[in-house]
Amino acid sequence: SYPQLLANKKVVISAGATKERIDPVRYITNDSSGKMGYAMATAATWLGADVTLVSSTQRLTAPINTHVIPFENALELQTAMETEAKQADYVMMVAAVSDYRVAHPQEQKIKKQHHQSNQLTLELIENPDILKGLAAQKNQQIMIGFAAETENLIEHAQAKLQRKKVDWIIANQVGKNHQTGFNTDDNQVTLLSANGERFPLPLMSKLETALAAWQIIAQTPLNK
Ligand code: PMT
Repeated sequence: SYPQLLANKKVVISAGATKERIDPVRYITNDSSGKMGYAMATAATWLGADVTLVSSTQRLTAPINTHVIPFENALELQTAMETEAKQADYVMMVAAVSDYRVAHPQEQKIKKQHHQSNQLTLELIENPDILKGLAAQKNQQIMIGFAAETENLIEHAQAKLQRKKVDWIIANQVGKNHQTGFNTDDNQVTLLSANGERFPLPLMSKLETALAAWQIIAQTPLNK
């Protein structure tokens, strides 16, 4: 058994990819499988937390005693997170959120256009930055984001920490190899705190990564 570092703490975690509808049978999404978010949920329960998982996937099994709230798109995720974050001690956004959604989703399947130009333009509009909004409204919650970056990992992650005004950013190199990031079993991350500390973790399973990350977050006091 593990030290109960999160006993009596309410933890809210988002996991998985957003799906932004184009029409009833098509959507825009990304490669997030939900594995990292589910690992975070599992590790938090091991450390004694009361966990709510806001999830877009049905492929993974949630840890027992976890409250699961489903979402499909960024606006649904925002609504669920705003409700759940109010009572939380820790709010962690692992979900990969589309920065844009389809401006005019169609109610009927879009037909192929014959005898016209060979281009179809899809208009996109910006989604809200959910994490930034939650951090702006926060009381005592510890706010944790991820930064999935393909280049200049630490610089970009540091910029997100400041721009979103969160307490922690977990910097996650993605896209460079097939071992870490989206839809892998292993990960390698560096935690950056609002205090300016850095905690690089080795390459290990997402579950080991999650356990190490929660232990650091629960045991590092932040200057408020
Ligand atoms: O699900 P897996 O297959 O296991 O993959 C895990 C992962 C790579 C998806 C995960 O480890 C990860 O890095 N998640 C964050 C992905 C992401 O969208 O990062 P970002 O750098 O675009 O966003 C930064 C932070 O702001 C994230 O916490 C994100 O949830 C949040 N965000 C982003 C956009 C937006 N409109 N609202 C947000 O709240």
